[in-house]
Amino acid sequence: MALDQQAQPSSFFITTPIFYVNDAPHIGHAYTEVAADVLARWHRQAGDDTWFLTGTDEHGQKILRTATANGVAPKEWADRLVESAWKPLLDTIDLSNDDFIRTTDARHEEGVAKFLQKLYDDGHVYAGEFEALYCVGCEEFKPKSEIVDGEGAFAGEKVCAIHSKPLELLQEKNYFFKMSAFQERLLALYEERPDFVQPASARNEVIAFVQQGLEDLSISRTSFDWGIPIPWDSSHVTYVWFDALLNYVTATGYGADAAQFERRWPATHIVGKDILRFHAVIWPAMLMAAGLEVPRNVFAHGWLLVGGEKMSKSKLTGIAPNEITDTFGSDAFRYYFMRAISFGHDGSFSWEDLAARYQAELANGFGNLASRVLAMNQKYFEGRVPQAGSDEQPADAAIRELAADVAARADERISAFAIHEAIAAVWELVDALNGYITEQEPWALAKDPAQRDRLASVLYTTTEGLRVLAELLAPVIPQAAAKLWAALGAEEALGALEAQPIREAGRWGRLVAGTEQQRIAVLFPRIEIDGEGK
Ligand code: MSP
Repeated sequence: MALDQQAQPSSFFITTPIFYVNDAPHIGHAYTEVAADVLARWHRQAGDDTWFLTGTDEHGQKILRTATANGVAPKEWADRLVESAWKPLLDTIDLSNDDFIRTTDARHEEGVAKFLQKLYDDGHVYAGEFEALYCVGCEEFKPKSEIVDGEGAFAGEKVCAIHSKPLELLQEKNYFFKMSAFQERLLALYEERPDFVQPASARNEVIAFVQQGLEDLSISRTSFDWGIPIPWDSSHVTYVWFDALLNYVTATGYGADAAQFERRWPATHIVGKDILRFHAVIWPAMLMAAGLEVPRNVFAHGWLLVGGEKMSKSKLTGIAPNEITDTFGSDAFRYYFMRAISFGHDGSFSWEDLAARYQAELANGFGNLASRVLAMNQKYFEGRVPQAGSDEQPADAAIRELAADVAARADERISAFAIHEAIAAVWELVDALNGYITEQEPWALAKDPAQRDRLASVLYTTTEGLRVLAELLAPVIPQAAAKLWAALGAEEALGALEAQPIREAGRWGRLVAGTEQQRIAVLFPRIEIDGEGK
């Protein structure tokens, strides 16, 4: 047995941020979720020991205020929203998460208390007086660089640079985490592990921030009680970000299930760039203080822009994911956002662009290719995979080599978080197969009985090309890929699609001649676009 077959599968633990429970899910949230899901599905299919975690962030002043305004207790408010909005979102965009954590789960509250107690016992926490400007929108005491003078109704006041709303001056006795003590260790971490924070622009921003000097972090609040009590002083609740960041370890057994924790941790965190500092500075400092390993990677993606601005509910540019999936389906949603936006950069959303890519790339490029090839197998070979002749032509070899090449490149691009480039690489094969069919003209070969072998070779090449595509596209468009897989007869012959080792997808010849195929429904039906730009 080869050595690598004996090796343990490597662990791949991937997370999304946990979402503020009282925001209505919009496509910005769904974007983070889908990106993490594509990576999770890819690694799972590669045989890595994968665990995909998502969830909701339920404590803090912002949630307490909304619940109170709606006349409900905060826990009841959170329960309602998790059931009516956040869990349904997982189905809307076809997520394959292994776990869903809520910060009101007992496992989380117990883990946070243990973590805090450890930091306190080890001397990383002290009590102090505090006075600073707080933004409830960000749930953060704002650094000077993000405090600006208000305009219009807020003229004369200090406002948050992100939310443009007045800041609140808070004066409290707080517990502080001695974060400043970790400045040098953090800088050494960014230096020694250049891929710890990605992309490079995010890394540079984090380094510049830490180089300016780190202050200690206030980690408790006394002015309200919707939070996890500080274990040694129940008149305080834990600062919501300190509580929220810990979800990544409390969900994987911290302080409760050592074997699970050992198996999963450290994680790869996918976050929006607006919450980079929490994940790349505060979080590793917390872990260092607790004597735990820092995350494997923190990857910050860009913002979805609508009409040139960060899409947000408060600015009324928010779009609910099901507004898109109801018309285009979840596969198209996933494909569009992963393909059209460079992962790590901002990207604009428009209905026109979505509709155009749907039609050109999914319906005409990929869907049509699948139906044409299967229809020709039906017509010329009684619905079975034809037997390729022994005379491989240069055009056939080019497809075979391209399949191996794109499979390898896509895997490499995924490991570098360049999801859009991985998909673009796979699409080279879609385009090449379409070009190959146009050039080889199988319908013309079919008219000449002397060309029967050549026809079989051409259709074997295209059918096997579809097999490669189904495997490589399963993480991105799981539903269409599964339909194609079944139609190819591959389910019977090779087993479940998710069980196909994606790193071997490019190995040619796995689909065996004679395999019985099935009819395929149109993968991406034509969509009538209404007059409102949708
Ligand atoms: N609760 C915190 C995260 C705690 S993690 C320990 C939070 N929640 S959030 O609901 O406001 O945001 C969650 C994610 O959605 C973030 O990654 C954020 O960047 C992302 N997005 C929210 N609006 C977005 C866009 N317009 N575009 C892209 N992503 C956006 O922050």
